[in-house]
Amino acid sequence: SFTPTPGDRFSFGLWTVGWQGRDPFGEATRAALDPVEAVYRLAELGAYGVTFHDDDLIPFGACDSERESHVKRFRQALDTTGLVVPMATTNLFTHPVFKDGAFTANDRDVRRYALRKVIRNIDLAVELGARTYVAWGGREGAESGAAKDVAAALDRMKEAFDLIGEHVTQQGYDLRIAIEPKPNEPRGDILLPTVGHALAFIERLQRPELYGVNPEVGHEQMAGLNVAHGVAQALWAGKLFHIDLNGQSGVKYDQDLRFGAGDVRAAFWLVDLLETAGYDGPRQFDFKPPRTEDSAGVWASAAGCMRTYLILRERAAAFRADPRVHDALRAARLHELFRPTAEDGLAGLLADPRAYEEFDVRAAAERGMAFEHLDQLAMEHLLGVR
Ligand code: GCO
Ligand code: MN
Ligand code: MN
Ligand code: MN
Repeated sequence: SFTPTPGDRFSFGLWTVGWQGRDPFGEATRAALDPVEAVYRLAELGAYGVTFHDDDLIPFGACDSERESHVKRFRQALDTTGLVVPMATTNLFTHPVFKDGAFTANDRDVRRYALRKVIRNIDLAVELGARTYVAWGGREGAESGAAKDVAAALDRMKEAFDLIGEHVTQQGYDLRIAIEPKPNEPRGDILLPTVGHALAFIERLQRPELYGVNPEVGHEQMAGLNVAHGVAQALWAGKLFHIDLNGQSGVKYDQDLRFGAGDVRAAFWLVDLLETAGYDGPRQFDFKPPRTEDSAGVWASAAGCMRTYLILRERAAAFRADPRVHDALRAARLHELFRPTAEDGLAGLLADPRAYEEFDVRAAAERGMAFEHLDQLAMEHLLGVR
């Protein structure tokens, strides 16, 4: 059945179901959602986790006693429902003080403030049991050329992440940092725009083992990339710490659609990968129920994310189990890709006349790869006719 249970490890950000529908052209279309109500509704729908930005839970600028009472109510709702907080993150983009970014703002005072805001929320995240901390820069970027020195900005970005890592290590927290790439929006261009950029950046940090990535489906697609390929490379590098599932129709503004909406084939291959490649982290939905929806539509949208994931999981498993698919994979010679190219080493390769002198280039060029038949089988499993 396609009914989610906590064992499926679905989580939602408070900012997703709580999005009021404010966009650059229009006011909010929905009332604010109490985080406590969000916890109850998500638990009812079958989610296992809820995540938050500091400001989703504790309104920006709240005093210490207000802060305490917000956290207390939230914690009570978690205890009552059994929902967990697998991850938390920081809002470094809404307040005007972050108009030029946070860790890479030209204004040093803003950078110091941003780091304090993050560290303060990391302490709360750990208190609430989070094991992953997501870092989405938000406004780390630029619209113009000379105003941002990219190398200097990356130095400051590294400095910030190294300081966060130092804090996590000093405190002995069991917490890993997941960097979330995005190519643009709200800035014209954002630093660490894709999974690949983020993976390369992580290797320059003082404690690379503490950092991984949080790819978002739509963000890779905004850059015209194959999200399952990006996620596969993150897994290959041991760096898939978290994932944001949603939908996106091609290269345009960040749509944050319900999971599976937009590019359903990409969603199919992504689920197939997550379910077969050993990812055991949360499946988080980072979507925005369109502003056309009232509160019933919001929960229908949230339920739809989970239901579509479960349907795709079942479809992908059926594809993998089909004997015709096994034959088609064989015909596509995928098994050969698993074999090293030169078990015989460089010397063996250079001494092997069949590798070059006697290799029948024309015959190899003529052999078909039989990929189309295989892909059509996948399409038919996805479409539910097999
Ligand atoms: C986006 C981003 C955000 C972040 C979130 C975590 O759609 O631009 O996904 O939603 O994931 O703010 O910091
Ligand atoms: Mn996201
Ligand atoms: Mn997004
Ligand atoms: Mn978003």
